[in-house]
Amino acid sequence: MKRIAVFGTGYVGCVTAACLSRDGYHTIGVDIDSEKVAALNAGESPVAEPGLSELVSEQVAAGRLRATEDFRDAIQETDIAMIAVGTPSDRAGAVSTGALEKVIESIGQSLSENSHPYTVVIRSTLLPGILENRLAPLLAETSGKKLGEQLHICNNPEFLRESVALRDYDAPPFVVAGASSAVAGEEVLGLYHGIKAEKIVTDTHTAALLKYACNAYHAVKIGFANEIGALARSFGADGQQVMDLVCRDTKLNVSKAYLRPGFAFGGSCLPKDLRALTRYAEESAMHVSLLRSVLPSNQEHLDRAIELIEDRGKKKVGLIGLSFKAGTDDLRESPFVTLVETLVGRGYDIKIFDPGISISRLKGRNLAYIDQRLPHLAALLVEDLEQLLEHGELLVLGNDIADEVDLSSRSSDQIVDLRRCLVIADHEAVNA
Ligand SMILES: NC(=O)c1ccc[n+]([C@@H]2O[C@H](COP(=O)([O-])OP(=O)(O)OC[C@H]3O[C@@H](n4cnc5c(N)ncnc54)[C@H](O)[C@@H]3O)[C@@H](O)[C@H]2O)c1
Repeated sequence: MKRIAVFGTGYVGCVTAACLSRDGYHTIGVDIDSEKVAALNAGESPVAEPGLSELVSEQVAAGRLRATEDFRDAIQETDIAMIAVGTPSDRAGAVSTGALEKVIESIGQSLSENSHPYTVVIRSTLLPGILENRLAPLLAETSGKKLGEQLHICNNPEFLRESVALRDYDAPPFVVAGASSAVAGEEVLGLYHGIKAEKIVTDTHTAALLKYACNAYHAVKIGFANEIGALARSFGADGQQVMDLVCRDTKLNVSKAYLRPGFAFGGSCLPKDLRALTRYAEESAMHVSLLRSVLPSNQEHLDRAIELIEDRGKKKVGLIGLSFKAGTDDLRESPFVTLVETLVGRGYDIKIFDPGISISRLKGRNLAYIDQRLPHLAALLVEDLEQLLEHGELLVLGNDIADEVDLSSRSSDQIVDLRRCLVIADHEAVNA
């Protein structure tokens, strides 16, 4: 059985140390706070968490859990270090990594004195890039060892909630290890052999951002529910009932729907209805900053698409797909119409292929919208894909009509896929 040192015996560290010890590992809690170390050694939890004192007391009595301030001793006696020190905000809101760097430095220095294999696991919440660009080089430098052979550094974000932390440790949504090698990732997941949950090895950037994405999503959910609640109250409705009904739609609302990052939204309903709600709030002197920020956020995503196209430096562009989604000829508030309007205004020579759209069939508000935004649309549309391919030095893939088109003769630098390129790092897009 592997022996584990847990650095930082606060909320995350103490729960982790006690649970690992319960699951059979010899575990040492390491902290600079002598009171926390003394409390643990006396069989008491240094933090208030239901059930934790009992577990700590049991494990200390069984001789599987102890604590120390002596970093060197802890490293010499263990095979794995889990780091759960704090990563608070600095004055500007950035992540403070001072405590983490100190721990990594101490681990590196202790490891330089011996030759046993060692794995360092970052359990603290940390932005992607810090492990790879700062902590990993620091560990290699201070230990004098090459990473990836006898020495590994991984991450393993924690998803527990205070007050139900023991329950969450045993029933997490999933266990995720970020690692640069499958072997190191599996070693981290192996620590959770007693936990029944999906276990995933991914890269360290993804694992790190996942934790922030989860917390940001939780915060956005609460902000959204509260703003809808405030609007409900103002309309004379029951916000809790509205949101209860919202949650009962597990097809479109509480589901994977609309949670796949890609391109901006549009169409005849979402922008219009968001505008109506925020306009009502303004007239009622109510602040709904979250709802009010959604259309500007969507515009910012569209601006990123325009920058991406401009960066390619080609003026003759072929767009595949103009309606806001495949299978409709509704062009009202399609983000691709705005994209074309902007690019044409900036001197781009654009042709559009969208077999779902026929100018002669556009009617009513749909026609009026296009007359106002792209009155020369007929001159831009081509019926024949070959014509588009001949014209476009750069092909821009808009909606899913692009999936029906064979682009195998084009190299990736001649294509901008708006459904992927704005949200996937270049190296991944290339490897996909
Ligand atoms: N609290 C939560 O519910 C929760 C949940 C998931 C993730 N996280 C993340 O886990 C990390 C730890 O959070 P926490 O709430 O347990 O923090 P905490 O403040 O309760 O505990 C941090 C511990 O680290 C110790 N410490 C500081 N510097 C040290 C050093 N150089 N060497 C050894 N120990 C040192 C402190 O004395 C303290 O005991 C943070 O990155 C946090 O964002 C927290």
